[in-house]
Amino acid sequence: MKNKITSLFGIEYPIIQGGMVWVSGGKLAAAVSRAGGLGLIGAGSMQPEVLHRQIVKAQALTSRPIGVNVPLLYEKAGEQIDTALALGIKIFFTSAGSPKKFTSYLKDQACTVVHVTSSPELAIKCEEAGVDAIVAEGFEAGGHNGRDELTTFTLIPQVRDIIKIPLIAAGGIADGRGILAALSLGAEGVQMGTRFLMTRESSAHQSFKDLLLNANPASTKTFMRATTPVRLFDNKFAREIAQIEQSFHGENLKQKLYEHLGKFRAKNGMLEGDLDNGELEVGQVISLIKNIPTVEEVFNELIADYKKGIRNLPQF
Ligand SMILES: Cc1cc2nc3c(=O)[nH]c(=O)nc-3n(C[C@H](O)[C@H](O)[C@H](O)COP(=O)(O)O)c2cc1C
Repeated sequence: MKNKITSLFGIEYPIIQGGMVWVSGGKLAAAVSRAGGLGLIGAGSMQPEVLHRQIVKAQALTSRPIGVNVPLLYEKAGEQIDTALALGIKIFFTSAGSPKKFTSYLKDQACTVVHVTSSPELAIKCEEAGVDAIVAEGFEAGGHNGRDELTTFTLIPQVRDIIKIPLIAAGGIADGRGILAALSLGAEGVQMGTRFLMTRESSAHQSFKDLLLNANPASTKTFMRATTPVRLFDNKFAREIAQIEQSFHGENLKQKLYEHLGKFRAKNGMLEGDLDNGELEVGQVISLIKNIPTVEEVFNELIADYKKGIRNLPQF
């Protein structure tokens, strides 16, 4: 398959594995790139030296293009970018911050830059900042969500209508039907997180993956809507957050949430498997996923499913 996204990154399929804190290290990113997609190392949870090791690991596993996702809310974002540049990384997906912050710096180093947005307004700002493509991520997605709570189905066509650069859809896509739908709405590629979390190569703890095998459609909810909305598995920790949100307001709420979140909740939950007290980021689409295959198996199924969907279209 050839289109603007495959040409932009030099890949076979317009399928991107989103950066995911604690879940997407070099092993997962390399497996996705080897399978013909674009794997991203999620730098958000990594100190620069850890990122260095993960990039070296990925580069030893594949010579195909690999990218790095840098959430801009962390203070080490600049250092992470320089670490990746020094190792020859040329593809950056920035998120959770202003697209103006690093885009021209990265363009000056001949990099391809993509920014993640959750609203049409921010999509315009990304284009103005000079990015090469945009990820538009709906409210179904795992991890941090947009305040406007726009779903992928409403977001993609609205962004498509107002931007000219290539568009990648994210949020709620886990199979070939989802890819076909996203392309029909005007995207040229997809970014998937939750589907790749549920693979052998992801570094999510096995007990977290096993828990997710039994997820139901109501297993995830968006918490911290008033401060920093994030879609989580609805476990004990998440319910404590909800309780705090009901009991406090304004600055008090922010302070109580800050205290409760502590420093390592996400690591404890997703990487170390503390299913009660850890923070478990995951998308709404999890209840469609009933297995933990290899990345290669996921790709085989995605492509077969997508082709079947195309064949079935005329009957509609
Ligand atoms: C466990 C987890 C961690 C995530 N961490 C990040 C992150 O560090 N940076 C980022 O830009 N997006 C992050 N995301 C969002 C993904 O990159 C991707 O856009 C999203 O998962 C797509 O929606 P889906 O979960 O429905 O596939 C995360 C998602 C999950 C599930």
